[in-house]
Amino acid sequence: MMIETSSFFDIHKTETSRINQVDFDNLEFGRVFSDHMFLMEYENGEWMRGKIEPYGPFTMSPASMVFHYGQAIFEGMKAYRMADGGVSIFRPGKNIERFNLSAKRMCMPEVPEDIFMEALATLVELDKEWVPGGDESSLYIRPFMIATDSYVGVKASEKYAFSIFTCPVGAYYKGNVSVKVERNYTRATPGGTGYAKAAGNYAGSLYPSRLAREEGFDQLIWTDAIEHEYIEESGTMNAMFVLNGGLVSPATSDTILNGVTRDSVLTIARDLGINVDIRKVAVSELRSGLESGSITEAFGVGTAATIKPIAEIGIDGIHYPLKHVNHAKSVANQLLNELDGIRRGKIEDRHAWNIPI
Ligand code: COI
Repeated sequence: MMIETSSFFDIHKTETSRINQVDFDNLEFGRVFSDHMFLMEYENGEWMRGKIEPYGPFTMSPASMVFHYGQAIFEGMKAYRMADGGVSIFRPGKNIERFNLSAKRMCMPEVPEDIFMEALATLVELDKEWVPGGDESSLYIRPFMIATDSYVGVKASEKYAFSIFTCPVGAYYKGNVSVKVERNYTRATPGGTGYAKAAGNYAGSLYPSRLAREEGFDQLIWTDAIEHEYIEESGTMNAMFVLNGGLVSPATSDTILNGVTRDSVLTIARDLGINVDIRKVAVSELRSGLESGSITEAFGVGTAATIKPIAEIGIDGIHYPLKHVNHAKSVANQLLNELDGIRRGKIEDRHAWNIPI
């Protein structure tokens, strides 16, 4: 096994790449893993020297604290195949910032930005042949941190593992989605962990999502925990609506994830001269906008999902179809073409979002 070094970690390259076993034309989201992963452990109050090694399983004690008290956080970002054949990671600095915000909320150590960035860039460079080139394809990057101390008392762990692996992916949602406005269950409460990318937020969303699927919906749009009247987010995506031709989206808070795709889409909308209104969005306003036709589009935005048009919204048992869902000139399509063009180097990267590898 060949060993190279960087300032912060050693690199053990695989001798047998699995890339020839992959059908890049039929990628299922999140099921295919590239050749290498990054791993770095924390103990005695500091990060140890890390390593990049062949992708493979961890061995862990059953008493590892992550299994019991849920100290686990993660991020999602993407690397794209550029029009000139190169590879760029999209806005990794924003995800690193949010990762460390999540770490702080979950009482976990922050990962120094320079180590995080070097690990990302080296890992993607090493597996750059795994970055697919298809229209809806990219290399999804999943950094995460877990508590690894073997201890059964409830307290913050003293040991952690930080790891990054990557997956060549196609679309997260195939086609348009149908969503239910959730008026009973809650994703996040004020003062809670909703703004952090904490694993437990996702675990708690599974049961209400299952109930919605049994009613024929693909996803939920959560409402606030107090009145169940204000739109929050979709769990895998932030929510946006087109009202009288302008873009309306709920303001982020401690119960709504501050999405990187959300920020990118709002910036692009402003660049394109679309009116952007960030504020509270009431379910009553959504309902009357859908009834009167002033709301013509709704879509979710997220790293995994990109920009996903919503075909139908269910509110209190009534199904409302969206008027402009598949129009070529829809606001969602304009924004997607612009965002995708920037990420793939076909449109000028005027905000310096792409980090070339
Ligand atoms: C992402 O969009 O990257 C996410 O983390 C959402 C979901 C896949 C969990």
